[in-house]
Amino acid sequence: MLVVEGGHTLEGTVACSGSKNAFLPIAAAALLTTEPLKVTRVPDLADANLILNILEGLGCEVHRDFENSSITIQAPEEPLGEAGWEDVRKMRGSVYVLGPLLARTGAAKVSLPGGCVIGQRPIDLHLRGLEELGAKVEIDHGHVVASVPGGRLTGAHIYLGGSSGSSVGATANIMMAACLADGETIIEGAACEPEVVDLGRCLIGMGATIEGLGSPRLSIQGVEQLGGCEHEVIPDRIEAGTYVIAGAMTGGRVKVEGCDPGHLSVLLARLHQAGVPFEIGDGFIETQSFNPRDPQEGLRATDVTTLPYPGFPTDLQAQWMALMTLAPGISVITEKIYPDRYMHMPELLRLGADLRRQNAGTAIVVGGKRLSGAPVTASDLRASAALVLAGLVAEGVTEVHRVYHIDRGYERIEDRLSALGAVIRRESDPWVG
Ligand code: EPU
Repeated sequence: MLVVEGGHTLEGTVACSGSKNAFLPIAAAALLTTEPLKVTRVPDLADANLILNILEGLGCEVHRDFENSSITIQAPEEPLGEAGWEDVRKMRGSVYVLGPLLARTGAAKVSLPGGCVIGQRPIDLHLRGLEELGAKVEIDHGHVVASVPGGRLTGAHIYLGGSSGSSVGATANIMMAACLADGETIIEGAACEPEVVDLGRCLIGMGATIEGLGSPRLSIQGVEQLGGCEHEVIPDRIEAGTYVIAGAMTGGRVKVEGCDPGHLSVLLARLHQAGVPFEIGDGFIETQSFNPRDPQEGLRATDVTTLPYPGFPTDLQAQWMALMTLAPGISVITEKIYPDRYMHMPELLRLGADLRRQNAGTAIVVGGKRLSGAPVTASDLRASAALVLAGLVAEGVTEVHRVYHIDRGYERIEDRLSALGAVIRRESDPWVG
């Protein structure tokens, strides 16, 4: 568990890591070639290790150099074609091996991920996209069993939008598969997230022909084969945003270095609206000192609605809620990607926040209340981050239990926050047997 003593203003500089959600599909892309793929700026995270374990299970050779944040992955001539429930259960990102395996070998068997605490999370769009490329897909005893009659996928015109808009994962999976399909694939309704663009850049480095990255229409010209390359992962915009919000909540000067402020435009716009002073420059965002609780010059209640990029990221929704607990007045949070992603609410209530669920997807924050430390339970990665942030400003001590979730997405968060002046330490968790 993490034990946080509230009331310390953060000051200093924190370096941004490579993006977890960009690295996961990029690592899976190594299956598209037999040549080595070297990836740099790899975050040292539980999820990064998990995808590497899965790739090893498929026969890949993986050379880990976490000291230099670099990984080299080399897939075998004939990768094994199965990723089992044990792996997929731990991380839904494992489903990224489906498209590359199918495109390279003509067959794949991957456990069907179930729902998770943030919502239902189906993969119907991934499967539909692969079918449109000519794959035969069946669900068999909890596995996706896919094969390609004739051995090679065929380019197609695919619409990938779902009821919540575009899908990051489906776009990534289909884009990878289409790189080795015969002919041209057009993906309409493609996700525009920087992580998808980064994957596309890596695939282009491997010899793929992709146009339209960052737009909702991708055109991919299939090639005979791909080769290896060296690729640097983009900075983690969600990690960066979390530390910026930490600076804002404590009213301190926190400089997040090595990030891309352009990827966080909507967060910065909302922070500005909320009265948080900050500066941005080449590769950094720095919050400026202020008193968040000052009635005139402090935080202002500000609504957000999560949407696919460039909208407000769902992965910063919980942290925004933590921030808004400090802003006097009412702010409305609308979650359009995962309408049930509010597991942090009952825990924030335990710290004294005043929060209410409205109709599906909407939460009301009555901000400006005093927060006081208490034991709380983390339910997922971003909820954990929000609880740590709230702990930084709550009076007394907050114990965040089941904090293993946070290690999936934040590199050594307690060391980084301590270096900024937070009083936070990790202890063994009596709640985790
Ligand atoms: N959806 C479908 N069918 C599909 C796929 C998605 O209906 O086949 C729906 C989802 O249920 C959701 C929406 O479409 O309502 C968007 O889901 P998306 O596919 O974009 O999400 P994902 O690829 O499964 C990634 C990140 C998540 C992040 C979302 C949204 C990775 C490994 N995960 O998930 O990150 O919240 O995009 O931006 O990249 C996190 O890092 O904490 C995290 C949960």
